[in-house]
Amino acid sequence: MRAKVSMITGAAGEVGQALIQRLAETEAYAEPGDGRQPFGDDEHYILTLDLKPLPPEIARHVIQVEGSILDTALLDRLVSEYEIEEIYHLAALLSTRAEFSPDAAHRVNVEGTMGLLHLAAQQSEWRGESVRFIFPSSIAVFGLPDLQTKESYARVREWEWNYPTTMYGCNKLYCEMLGNYFSRHYRQLAADQPTSLDFRSVRFPGLVSAYTVPSGGSSDYGPEMLHAAAKGVPYSCFVREDVRIPFMAMPDAVKALIDLAHAPRQRLNRPVYNVTSFSLSAAQFREQVLCHFPDAQISFSPDLKRQKIVDTWPSDLDDSAAQRDWGWKPEYNVERAFAEYLVPNIRERYQGNTAGHAD
Ligand code: SER
Repeated sequence: MRAKVSMITGAAGEVGQALIQRLAETEAYAEPGDGRQPFGDDEHYILTLDLKPLPPEIARHVIQVEGSILDTALLDRLVSEYEIEEIYHLAALLSTRAEFSPDAAHRVNVEGTMGLLHLAAQQSEWRGESVRFIFPSSIAVFGLPDLQTKESYARVREWEWNYPTTMYGCNKLYCEMLGNYFSRHYRQLAADQPTSLDFRSVRFPGLVSAYTVPSGGSSDYGPEMLHAAAKGVPYSCFVREDVRIPFMAMPDAVKALIDLAHAPRQRLNRPVYNVTSFSLSAAQFREQVLCHFPDAQISFSPDLKRQKIVDTWPSDLDDSAAQRDWGWKPEYNVERAFAEYLVPNIRERYQGNTAGHAD
């Protein structure tokens, strides 16, 4: 018997680490222990795949595999050893990094996703039951042509302005479509259309975690500003003060993925949903940071090229479809996000090295 698993790719990244911790808190997954016990037939495990190792405190919850999503021999081995019931496909090169190496970004973001969609489709057919495929997409799939348009289309809906200007945004938009294709139309001309995968996707705004700092994204100025303040080091923001995009605290991002994964399929009228929680200009983000770290030194020296990318992203998202179809509701508005999640945990993380005053 193969052990039943939920597979998480890109598990060592920001979202991956937070997701594992949340999933491990539920009763639904067994821990693999020291590997000497055989896997239980009725148990479900978390299987992770990443090039990098997980921090030990997270690794103990999972069956950890170090490797690439592009390694087809490795994927074949995993399928032979495990019954993959669900995939959280988080591995990706983010928007800034992808501009420096667009070919590599295409390989990882598109070819990597295609390989996993194939795997999920085959597994679904084999089991006669759909493998759920949860895919985080991004505000980078939007591309507003200029600031005036950005101003007038404040809350952008899923199907509006799908004209990405970055390799990452193009990759995400195309993979949303591939996911929908595999889920609803794969082998549509076959005499007997087989069971295929169940693709579900959310478009995230900029994510902010108390425990990890993102790398290679264009919304990174928010979290970078906050973590620099907590460490007591000066920060120079790479976008203008007036630049506004939506953000979300990491626990809400994880909640969105899990809530969407568990939503009854018949309730889902779309393959892809916008989700958001609060929208801030870079100056307002700085004000929030200063409320908690009043001595923080935050200046603005825009990098015009990175700035240009963020200028094409919407200032807010309309997530009413997610609210209506699967009850999406963030737990953290901006005040709660800073006061109850970000600041206390960040202070603890950099304890003894804070620029601010205790609340
Ligand atoms: N945070 C991502 C980035 O900046 C956008 O989804 O690339």
